[in-house]
Amino acid sequence: MKFLITAGPTREPIDAVRYLTNFSSGKMGYALVSSARARGHKVILVTGPVSISPPKGVTVKQVETTREMKQSVLKYLPSVDCLIMAAAVSDYRSVKVVKGKLKKDKKFINLKLVRNPDILKEIGAKNRNIILVGFALETDNLLREAQRKIKGKHLDYIVVNSPSAFGSNKTDVVILNQQGIVKRFSQASKRAVADFIVRTLERVKK
Ligand code: CTP
Repeated sequence: MKFLITAGPTREPIDAVRYLTNFSSGKMGYALVSSARARGHKVILVTGPVSISPPKGVTVKQVETTREMKQSVLKYLPSVDCLIMAAAVSDYRSVKVVKGKLKKDKKFINLKLVRNPDILKEIGAKNRNIILVGFALETDNLLREAQRKIKGKHLDYIVVNSPSAFGSNKTDVVILNQQGIVKRFSQASKRAVADFIVRTLERVKK
């Protein structure tokens, strides 16, 4: 199979030296890349800035912002069987990017943010022949939120986790399809979760 996998955070600039981002380490996305490669699949990785190296034999595209990630994902999408959006995409970006460095000459400053495109939602709305897998990071109502996202984004699977997974090699996840819960993992290695996801996707026919 040919997989397109996104991983890591995105970064949204505020000025020449600052940006908005999140705590994503990229470990889950990179575990999926390693797992898919080890099982003989072709992999294209679209990655935000992380400190891990991708395995050999993978096509890698480095991006920074959500809009750059969207552009790369749309470019590679027509050539793949499956898209896994493991990236922790920044939902908002600064309306204005200050040229040079923002100086601290005021007591209060306002940062106005604007919504970024929802990459997976836009793809899910149009695409019926590529397998789509989303991730959801939730702090409350994990399963209710996951069910809302799997339907709202027209996904085949969604992998739900909590912020405790950030940076860790272990994770608690629930994997759902449109019918309900497929599998729960508790304090499992990200690689074991990745292996399960890749094996599950090998059996999906579109
Ligand atoms: N995602 C995306 N584009 C965005 C935001 C999220 O493609 N702008 C993808 C993520 O990569 C993930 C899935 O959508 O696979 C769910 O992401 P999540 O941040 O949990 O959900 P949101 O849709 O952003 O919802 P909310 O912020 O309301 O929880």
